[in-house]
Amino acid sequence: MRQPLIAGNWKMNLVRDEVVSLLDALVPAVDGVEDRDVLVCPAFPYLALAAERLSGTRVRLGAQDMGWEAKGAFTGAVSPAMLADCGATDVILGHSERRHVFGEDDAMIRRKVGCAIDAGIRPILCVGETLDEREAGETWAVIERQLTGGLDGLDAAACDTLTIAYEPVWAIGTGHTATPAQAQEVHRQIRGWLAERFGDAVAARTRILYGGSVNPKTIDGLMAESDVDGGLVGGASLKAADFAQLVNYGRNG
Ligand code: PGA
Repeated sequence: MRQPLIAGNWKMNLVRDEVVSLLDALVPAVDGVEDRDVLVCPAFPYLALAAERLSGTRVRLGAQDMGWEAKGAFTGAVSPAMLADCGATDVILGHSERRHVFGEDDAMIRRKVGCAIDAGIRPILCVGETLDEREAGETWAVIERQLTGGLDGLDAAACDTLTIAYEPVWAIGTGHTATPAQAQEVHRQIRGWLAERFGDAVAARTRILYGGSVNPKTIDGLMAESDVDGGLVGGASLKAADFAQLVNYGRNG
């Protein structure tokens, strides 16, 4: 019942010409794929341009972050309405780089999640432990704290469009993909937490993506796990051929 989602997080990469050539190569390569959802998340300045290129295709458009107010004196922030206006349907929130480089905490992320839901933008809430936390046996405690904080006070109806991305910080951009078993263990715990907190229906329908050095070599093993519903992909989403291979996981021969 959960259609897999392969999402590309371009981070602070690709300028106009590169955005256009990547999308022009990617769209035909994934257009026939009907049983997987595809999402790309360019930097803010190129959202509208990407929306134009993606119009009429089945590739969805997302943003990498968002402000937490509707409008006002928030220099540098971009509102949910602005994202929607530029054609974004999804937004990545609480990415580890937002948490660790820009100092976002769970309370800020919770405000963003609420704001996205209110604006009809689908939040992708990222959670994940550092290497130190994993080695100290704190993986689940960290994830549980991030889930509890990021979704505090929401009810099951609010979680209708929620996606969770499990991204171990030690796997992001390092080439060290989590093993399928490591990913599955945390994904299973996340789904159990969703069931306890929001009920079985929410747990059954919520997609849980894995992120952290996903590449064409590692995707098949990850996607074979029952609680892995897709990937949030950084580096390998910057090349059309690699990303198309990820979207076509299990079928690349
Ligand atoms: P990576 O990034 O695939 O380059 O490890 C994933 C992410 O940060 O979302």
